[in-house]
Amino acid sequence: MIKIRTVLWIAAFAAVAAFLVTYLVTARTGGIFASGQSSIEAPTLAEQISLGGPFRLVDHTGIERSDADFLGKFMLIYFGYTSCPDVCPMSLNRMSAALNELGSDAEKVAPIFVTVDPERDTVEALNAYLSFDRRLIGLTGSDEALAEIAEAYRIYYQKVEEPGSALGYLMNHTSLFYLMDRDGAFLRPLDDESSPDEIAKIVAGYF
Ligand code: NI
Repeated sequence: MIKIRTVLWIAAFAAVAAFLVTYLVTARTGGIFASGQSSIEAPTLAEQISLGGPFRLVDHTGIERSDADFLGKFMLIYFGYTSCPDVCPMSLNRMSAALNELGSDAEKVAPIFVTVDPERDTVEALNAYLSFDRRLIGLTGSDEALAEIAEAYRIYYQKVEEPGSALGYLMNHTSLFYLMDRDGAFLRPLDDESSPDEIAKIVAGYF
């Protein structure tokens, strides 16, 4: 069991590492760090890395939501699950605190939490979990719908049975924030350990 989990974690880290290396190389060769002096306009990061896409899910109040509902806002998206013992609660707290840092500009952002555990994360479970900050939008759906959005956003997730624990199982999952622009196009990933202040500054930099 431990060996399998180790392999899964290595696979997850390798996937994220490969993605971030691509991101950094892209950034260095013409994306976000390109100087404005060049006569040839460098392709944007979003043009170079395809991530994201259409989705149709259900929010924490039971209303069907699609990507089109969030056009005009910057989506700040995090994938996780409400039974997560450690990382997800901290990430959501950072997201919430970043919205506070943004002040009235927070309304330009759609802060979205997509579950990777639809079995336990019903509409009701999401609603209760996100009650600490009513600006947060929880999304759940069928296994198929969630597998689709996870693939589109390159999210790794894997159920890990924990027979000895009260939870029964945990979910290993990618832990990154993704920032999408007003048209739903990918802008950049943000480290899940970014401070609320850092998150707010990065997001506001695109307004
Ligand atoms: Ni988690």
